[in-house]
Amino acid sequence: MSRNRFDPADLTLWPTMRRLLRLWRGEWRLAAFGFVCALAFTGLSLTIPKLIQYVIDDAVVPRDRGKLLPYLALILLVASARFFVNYVRRFATARIGIRVEARMRELLYDAYLRYPRAFYDHHPTGQVLSRATNDLYPIRYFIGWGLVQGAQSAMMIVGAAVILVAVSPPLALASGVAMPFVGLLAYAFARRVHPLSREVQERKGDLTEATGEAVVGMEMVQAFGREDDVQTRFGGHAGSVRDVSVQQADVEARFLPGLIFVPTLAIATVLLVGGRQVARGEMTSGEFALFITLLLQLVWPLEALGWITNVGQRAVASAGRSFAWLEGIPALPEPENPRRLPDGPLDVRFESVHARYPTGGTVLKGVDLAIERGQIVAVCGSTGAGKTTLLNLLPRFYDATEGRVLVGGVDVRDVRLADLRSAVGLVTQRPILFSVPLRENLTAARPDAPWHEVLAACHAAGVSGFAEELPDGYDTLIGERGVNLSGGQRQRVALARALVAGARVLVLDDPMSAVDTQTERLLVDNLRPAVEGKTVLIATQRLSTVEVADRAVVLDGGRIVQDGRPGDLLAGDGLFSKLFGDEVVAA
Ligand code: UTP
Ligand code: MG
Repeated sequence: MSRNRFDPADLTLWPTMRRLLRLWRGEWRLAAFGFVCALAFTGLSLTIPKLIQYVIDDAVVPRDRGKLLPYLALILLVASARFFVNYVRRFATARIGIRVEARMRELLYDAYLRYPRAFYDHHPTGQVLSRATNDLYPIRYFIGWGLVQGAQSAMMIVGAAVILVAVSPPLALASGVAMPFVGLLAYAFARRVHPLSREVQERKGDLTEATGEAVVGMEMVQAFGREDDVQTRFGGHAGSVRDVSVQQADVEARFLPGLIFVPTLAIATVLLVGGRQVARGEMTSGEFALFITLLLQLVWPLEALGWITNVGQRAVASAGRSFAWLEGIPALPEPENPRRLPDGPLDVRFESVHARYPTGGTVLKGVDLAIERGQIVAVCGSTGAGKTTLLNLLPRFYDATEGRVLVGGVDVRDVRLADLRSAVGLVTQRPILFSVPLRENLTAARPDAPWHEVLAACHAAGVSGFAEELPDGYDTLIGERGVNLSGGQRQRVALARALVAGARVLVLDDPMSAVDTQTERLLVDNLRPAVEGKTVLIATQRLSTVEVADRAVVLDGGRIVQDGRPGDLLAGDGLFSKLFGDEVVAA
């Protein structure tokens, strides 16, 4: 797979630019239009000083009033044409930038949906979000404005230089000396101010994140009386936003006046040298005016070039980071020759499975487990034994580092992810419900499920009892904008959701940890018929749940150390009876 050979360090200037320009491909018409407009704009802009030269030499100096009006009309005409060209050019090029940015964002979101879980374990949420939002602004700015504006500025500078040299080479040289400094100064300014404005953004991001964390954890903050701490931390973040903003303002204060001052040096040169030439009759007044207007017109293109150079650098850096993610982080590989899962109930096999988290030690060290079709197996073990780790291998949230996991006799890595995940239903340890009506939460995995099946699942999972008492029954909005369910209610909705999904292998990770024991007994009794014909793995810490299982296995030290009927295991003196023995006494 060539994807894995990708090295983000390869993303230097040109490879990144090539990739960026590839995103332009559909826009060549707009881009060509933009460049034609830029060319026209330059031509028209250079015409105006020339017309001013003529009006002075031809009408003003000879005091020929009759010629003033036609010149004025001509200048107005050219200026209007220039206005129009500039106007449409901005419409066209802004669209390119916005579309390229949107395309980049779509690519990133698309990639996010495919990234393996491990990616999210190791990338801060803030980073993942900003890569697809703030980070893309320089790209839009550069593509939508910088490229065409840069070309226009360059044409303008070359055109003006040609005109100036043609009129008076010595004066062009003398007044031109100062002008490149405008560009350099603009570049130096951009170089200093951009990192600061980026930092202001980042600090604001920290501030938002800290505020968000405090809001989400407000319960803890207030319960433990940590208000002062949080206040101090908030003050720290707010203070650094202020400090960096002040630094940014200082840089602006230092550079912006200079950007106005330098061009006046050039004008002074023209007055000094050109004024003498006019006095000696070596230059007409019109040519003198041409020099001054052209030099003034050059200020912005020079500044723009300096600015654009920097925007380009930032765009390339940010695009480089995005492409590094797009190409450097492989999605969970889909099989090249996918195999189909057999029809009907499926068996499950773990064959000397090892699993390790990138940052941790090896959690599973050779798990062998064969589960027959339709069997219910309880996976037990003390906390941290690796139950969740084992179950997460089935829908391929992670892949085994060694060994194989088979569903229906097929290695899970040989099945298309979509097929695998519709065959394997999952209730996670901390289920997430969406902020939509209860009804939609229940049918999230299978929107077209017939309502009687949903009701049956709700009965089996113990949702019916509380659902009917909600303000709008099954149409009640769940979550922050609606009704917040209790932990146990959430777990039951998640269980019903998994039953509605109609998966043939059900993976339940501690599905009733937040449900009281009495309700749990009822659920467990309901559950057996509801999962008839399905192969079920339940990770659990509760004896009452284990008791519905046909079989229990105990994980310890990364291996299965006990395997048998729950009743037999309880009677023995292994780890199982240590884990659950007390509960029997208590009951
Ligand atoms: P598990 O999460 O598989 O344990 O973590 P468990 O058996 O399900 O535990 P309970 O009953 O739900 O509490 C197994 C080991 O893997 C590590 C954990 O530190 C734990 O020791 N682990 C887990 C990681 O290193 N990274 C992870 O992302 C998750
Ligand atoms: Mg767990």
